[in-house]
Amino acid sequence: MPTAVNVDGTILPPSEAKVSVFDRGFLYGDSVYEVVRTYGRRPFELATHLRRLAHSAERIGLVPRWDEARIEAELLRTLAASRGDDPPDPGGAPWNAGERYARVVMTRGAGEIGLDPALAVDPTAIVIVQPLHGPPARAYAEGVKACVVGVQRVSPRVVDPSAKTGAHLNHVLAVREARAAGAHEALLTDERGFVTEGSSSNVFCVRGGRLATPPLAAGILAGVTRGSVLRIARDLAVAAEEVALAPGDLAGADEVFITSTLREIVPVTRLGEREVGDGRPGPVTRRLHAEFRRRASSS
Ligand code: PDD
Repeated sequence: MPTAVNVDGTILPPSEAKVSVFDRGFLYGDSVYEVVRTYGRRPFELATHLRRLAHSAERIGLVPRWDEARIEAELLRTLAASRGDDPPDPGGAPWNAGERYARVVMTRGAGEIGLDPALAVDPTAIVIVQPLHGPPARAYAEGVKACVVGVQRVSPRVVDPSAKTGAHLNHVLAVREARAAGAHEALLTDERGFVTEGSSSNVFCVRGGRLATPPLAAGILAGVTRGSVLRIARDLAVAAEEVALAPGDLAGADEVFITSTLREIVPVTRLGEREVGDGRPGPVTRRLHAEFRRRASSS
């Protein structure tokens, strides 16, 4: 069974993995989650992901069913259960072959219908492990298209953006808008028009050899990969700043790229209908990704 699902400690094939229709994760997106990936079949940056999961839960006052040690143990157990034939992925990036995607979801649980969190009685814990399908090798060689969409990032005054919650309707609608424009990723702005992040990624640009990315105060998720890229930039002596970016700053940049656990560093070579720089992945993006690859494969 290449896909294995752990529901409250029981590992099941996908067709048997079920949660209650009264679960608040299903009804309200009242949950927190992490997406972790493996390299060499071992989870990457697990401690950082578990820390962020605990932070997310604390931010929304959710007490997970499992403590951190149990989450780690159940994740490892589910990874071990995910064996068998991976579907072929001929265009896939070579470093993803045989690797796993793991989604850890902690919901506030089921209970009588009603918004009051106090109605939740029994938190649900889920781990989904499946073969990892990252972007195709072509995305790294040629870059992808992204576009700034009309759907906005949820304001930090509504939900703390540093909490990775299951409430994703605005991201779903953002991706819908991006797909209609033939784009791989949607970039969301805040109510003042500044760029925040992608629907499931952080965004960077390079101007005159200097790296720039919106600060956490822009109302974004503190991406694990974003953190790695800023560390790599420092180690390689690439100047980097966390600064407010307008869509025009990205459009006029020499290079743009997005980062996420599943995608690593993907060059953005088209923004809307315009080419970024010369329309090819730029040297700073390639250098940072080469170093990220080196660190990930020796992790
Ligand atoms: N998404 N911003 C948002 C809104 C995200 O959902 C994600 C991750 C990121 C990048 O964070 P990281 O580098 O820690 O993966 C930024 C995961 C991959 C997902 O939901 O699939």
